[in-house]
Amino acid sequence: MQIKLQAMQTTFEDLNLSNQLRNAIEDLGFVKPTPIQAESFSVVRSGKDVVGIAQTGTGKTFAYMMPILRDLKYSTQQHPKILVLVPTRELVLQVVEEIEKLAKYITLRVVGVYGGTNINTQKRAIAQGTDVIVATPGRLYDLALSKALNLKNIQKLVIDEVDVMLDLGFRFQLLNIFDILPERRQNIMFSATMTDDVDALITDFFKTPEKVSIAVSGTPLDNISQQSFDVPNFFTKVNLLNHMLKDKETYKKVLVFVGFKRTADLLFNSIDESFAEEICLIHSNKTQNYRIRSIRQFDEGKNRILVATDVMARGLDFNGVSHVINFDTPKFPENYMHRIGRTGRAEQEGQSILFSTPNEQEHKAGLEELMNYKIPKIDLPAEIEISEQLTEDERPREDRERSKNRTGLEYVPGPAFHEKSEKNSKTNQGGSYRREIAKKYKKPKTRGDKNYNKRNKKK
Ligand code: CDP
Ligand code: MG
Repeated sequence: MQIKLQAMQTTFEDLNLSNQLRNAIEDLGFVKPTPIQAESFSVVRSGKDVVGIAQTGTGKTFAYMMPILRDLKYSTQQHPKILVLVPTRELVLQVVEEIEKLAKYITLRVVGVYGGTNINTQKRAIAQGTDVIVATPGRLYDLALSKALNLKNIQKLVIDEVDVMLDLGFRFQLLNIFDILPERRQNIMFSATMTDDVDALITDFFKTPEKVSIAVSGTPLDNISQQSFDVPNFFTKVNLLNHMLKDKETYKKVLVFVGFKRTADLLFNSIDESFAEEICLIHSNKTQNYRIRSIRQFDEGKNRILVATDVMARGLDFNGVSHVINFDTPKFPENYMHRIGRTGRAEQEGQSILFSTPNEQEHKAGLEELMNYKIPKIDLPAEIEISEQLTEDERPREDRERSKNRTGLEYVPGPAFHEKSEKNSKTNQGGSYRREIAKKYKKPKTRGDKNYNKRNKKK
C-alpha cells in the first residue's frame, strides 16, 4: 500500500537532521520517517506556509516538530519563538511530552498552557523564559491579553488538528490570535481531514500555502482489520457488546465510540454490571478531572473499557488499543476514520468493529464507498437476545408524541452541544449526500498516485 511503499523510500539519513535529533529519534526506536514526515520536512524548513494532511496516527506531531527543531537556534531570550495551538488540554500535555522526547539532546524550554487550571502557575512558568509554547486557544489569548505572555517574537505558528479545532468552534478564537501575532511569520497547519471548514480557513487567511497530503482520509491503514454487524436496534447492540466484552482474552483494551454524549451515558448505564470495575467514560459534560482520570486509567490499563464520544478522543494517542467498537455508524466518514485510527497506531495490529441498525445502513454505505472497501460482515451470534425495547428515538413518531411528557430512563435524541455542528446535523441524507462527501474529501482519482500530492500542492 501507498503508505508503506513511500516509507521504504526515505530514511532519517535522507532528512538532513542534526546529530542531536538523530540520536533522540534513535533512542525512540523509530526506524523510518512516516510518509508525512518525509514529505513535510523540507517544505516546513523552506519557511513557506504549509498545510499537511495525513491520516490520524501517522506521526504528524514529529512531521512539524522535526524541521522546526532542526532550525531553532539556542536562545536565552525571554519570549517564545514557536507557538503550537491544539484543540484540547489533553493534547497540550501529549504534544509537550512528544517535543520533550525529540529535544532530549537539545537545550529547549517548552511550556504547555491550557484552561481550567490555575493561571498564575502558568504565568510563573512563562516568566522563566520559553522557546516553544503549546496552548489551547482560549488560555493563550487570556495570557497574551494579561501581558504575562509576549508574542512579539513568534516566528512560527503551528495549528495542529485544524479540523478538530474548527469542529469545536475555535475559528473565532483563532482569528483573535492571528490579530495579536506578528504579521511576518510562518503558518504551519496539520489536519487529519481536509474539510470544508479547513479549506475556508485556509483560503480566507493564508496565501497559497504549500500542500502536503498523504493518503487522503478515506484510505484506512492496512494494519487495522475491520468487521461489521447488522443489529436491529440500540438495546440489541448493548446485548452484543456485553457478549463481546465477556471475552477478556480477546477484548483486552476496548474503546467504544458513540456520537452523542446522551447516548454515551445511556450506553454506560446499560452495560452489564459485571463490568462496572473495568469501564470508564469521557465526554464533554464531564469535568476536566474526571476526563483526565478516565483517560489515564484507560491508557495505563487499569480500566479495560472506555466509552467515548467522537470529539473527546480525537487526536489522542492511547497505548495499544486492541479494539475500537463503533457502537453507532457515523454519519460522516471522517468520524469513522478518526475512531478507527485510535487502534493500529505506529504499525501495530488493530481491530475495528462496526454496529449498524437498518437506519444506519446508508451511513455505512457512504463510508464504504469513500474507503473503496466493503467491511466484512459477521452474522449476529445466535445467543444474542434480540431486544424488543426501543429508545425514544427508535419508536414510531405518533408513539413519541404520546409519550412526550414522560420522563425517566428514556433516551431523548438531539444534537449535543458542540459535538456536531449545526451544519452537519442539517445535512439531508438523500442522493446529494454522496456528492457532498466526495467534494468534502477531494478524493484522488487514482489511489497510490504519488504525483497526486505534487499536482495539488499549489492551491
Ligand atoms: O498526529 P497523528 O495522529 O498523525 O499522530 P501522532 O499523535 O503524532 O502519533 C504518532 C505515533 O507514532 C506516536 O506514538 C509516535 O511516537 C509514533 N511514531 C512517529 O511519530 N514517527 C515515527 N517515525 C514512528 C513512530
Ligand atoms: Mg496529531
